[in-house]
Amino acid sequence: MSRYRKIINRIFASCLFLLLVSVQNNVKAADGEALWKANCANCHKPDADYTGPALKGWRDRVPNEEWIYKWVANPAAMIATDAYAKSVFEKWKPTVMTGFSNLKKEEVDAIMKYVDDYQPPAPKTAAGGGAAAPETDNSLLFGILTLVLAVVAFILLQVNSNLRKLSDEKEGVLRGEPVPFYRNKAYIMAGILVLFGIGGYYTINGAIGLGRQKDYQPEQPIYYSHKVHAGVNQINCLYCHGGAQDGKHANIPSVNVCMNCHMAVNEYKGDPIVKEDGTPVDGTAEIQKLYSYAGWNPKTKQYNPDNNNDGIPDGARPIEWVKIHNLPDHVYFNHSQHVKVGKQNCQTCHGNIQEMGEVYQFSDLSMGWCINCHRESKVDFFNKETGEGNKFYSIYEKFHNDIKNHKLDSVTVEKIGGTECQKCHY
Ligand code: HEC
Ligand code: HEC
Ligand code: HEC
Ligand code: HEC
Ligand code: HEC
Ligand code: HEC
Repeated sequence: MSRYRKIINRIFASCLFLLLVSVQNNVKAADGEALWKANCANCHKPDADYTGPALKGWRDRVPNEEWIYKWVANPAAMIATDAYAKSVFEKWKPTVMTGFSNLKKEEVDAIMKYVDDYQPPAPKTAAGGGAAAPETDNSLLFGILTLVLAVVAFILLQVNSNLRKLSDEKEGVLRGEPVPFYRNKAYIMAGILVLFGIGGYYTINGAIGLGRQKDYQPEQPIYYSHKVHAGVNQINCLYCHGGAQDGKHANIPSVNVCMNCHMAVNEYKGDPIVKEDGTPVDGTAEIQKLYSYAGWNPKTKQYNPDNNNDGIPDGARPIEWVKIHNLPDHVYFNHSQHVKVGKQNCQTCHGNIQEMGEVYQFSDLSMGWCINCHRESKVDFFNKETGEGNKFYSIYEKFHNDIKNHKLDSVTVEKIGGTECQKCHY
């Protein structure tokens, strides 16, 4: 009897031990990063030259295992005596690395492990169907771990209750028939709570997503192909959407902008166009539709007469394009701030428009989408020494000092307030 109990206790103890070990490891890795930031990051980057050399790959360069401790403790002495140290110094002189005799061997190990493990932040995917960059996400691992632990706990509880039953029987204590686990109130309650949690999570996420319309691709009154215009014929986006440079809205061009070219271009002779569902599009017929909207007579090559005296050619009317991108009314978004000031490409937000037959919404336009980009993107920060960058940002004294002292190498939109509610919400 007691033998079983011992086994169970052992299982418990090993589980606990494993848990502690994994926590311990995390603490160590974090230490390496902190030590790195505090001592080395002013001059080094793991993967790029800075004031000192990029450190990744150091193991293959240095002469032996012990070298690193001696070097970190006293670089000047090493440069004087060690051939490899001298060769590095020759490349980086006159800067001499400061010595860190206070760092213990384990601490140097932790720092160098951080350097070895360092992964540059995943590059932003420019196109690629809007797939988010794969993140180092541990939640799946934790989920599986939790599940395994839950199952183990459940089995142990069952074993425990069986053992209790056996020992009770042996000692002659009489108890009522035990409740099977599926009728046990505690289990049922736990089950309900879990279901409630999962259900709530999906309901709330669904509710937040209401009104979002990623991939929305309505049928337009004219099959107007961005691929033909912006792609094949290389017409600049700003020729039609000049507002993106100068104002809040990018604007949709009016009919007369189309007619600048289409008074002359009256048929389509390019590569055959097919819609996504496979139906062919007759480009020339689509251009005729444009003429009908413009009140243009392609035979006489003239606008229709204005017999009803309303100031426009008879039959002319605006094209009722279906708006694809729609932010809710409580959000303020300004194109010129992003295109002209922030130097963002149209494609970052709208996808490869120049390859789209019909435009579809590439990004989900969620709040998280805006905020993530503001956290990652750098502003064109004014550099006092070279005089380059956006002069507006000469006012942020603190950031200028931090950059000078190498505490900061760039300023993100978040730092200038790009995640404050009132910047985006009316
Ligand atoms: C004041 C700037 C500065 C700091 C701080 C600094 N280094 Fe250096 N480090 C350098 C320079 C410069 C060199 C190139 C050799 C020279 O000129 O002294 C270098 C070289 C090295 C090298 C040799 C690189 C190679 O390619 O073989 C290693 C390793 C190194 N540093 C590790 C560290 C570690 C670890 C820290 C933090 C504990 C640190 N450094 C802090 C400036 C610095
Ligand atoms: C010759 C004029 C023209 C050019 C050049 C042009 N567009 Fe357009 N664009 C239009 C018209 C007309 C519409 C409305 C019809 C539609 O949605 O397809 C439109 C729609 C759009 C939309 C969707 C607007 C909405 O309803 O939400 C986006 C985004 C867009 N264009 C981006 C671009 C980008 C990026 C470029 C350059 C690669 C570009 N356009 C080049 C004429 C043009
Ligand atoms: C930072 C992301 C971002 C960039 C960069 C961007 N747009 Fe937009 N664009 C949006 C958002 C968000 C909307 C929806 C605006 C709304 O509903 O008020 C939009 C809407 C549009 C529209 C629909 C009309 C309008 O103004 O609401 C067009 C056309 C358009 N963009 C074209 C462009 C072009 C052309 C460029 C490049 C010169 C560009 N955009 C760059 C995010 C962006
Ligand atoms: C800068 C000149 C220019 C402007 C502005 C322009 N187009 Fe075009 N358009 C062309 C050219 C060039 C072709 C391709 C002709 C060919 O390949 O034979 C074309 C082709 C077309 C076609 C047939 C192919 C397709 O996309 O279905 C349509 C329809 C069309 N344009 C509509 C429009 C509309 C609507 C506008 C205004 C929003 C417009 N165009 C503005 C130059 C222009
Ligand atoms: C592709 C990256 C990107 C996306 C997506 C993006 N932004 Fe931005 N945004 C920027 C950059 C870069 C700036 C900084 C421009 C500058 O230098 O002032 C900026 C600046 C702003 C500012 C001015 C902030 C300030 O402090 O002056 C507002 C407001 C803003 N964005 C709103 C939005 C909204 C709303 C969305 C989502 C609909 C959005 N942005 C999506 C890159 C982005
Ligand atoms: C960079 C721009 C930006 C900033 C900063 C921002 N929001 Fe938003 N917010 C948005 C956009 C865009 C939406 C629309 C999302 C959608 O349509 O799903 C939104 C939607 C919302 C909604 C409606 C619920 C939803 O998700 O649709 C609430 C509530 C909200 N924001 C609150 C806040 C609060 C509180 C803050 C400050 C902590 C904040 N926002 C900061 C851009 C921003």
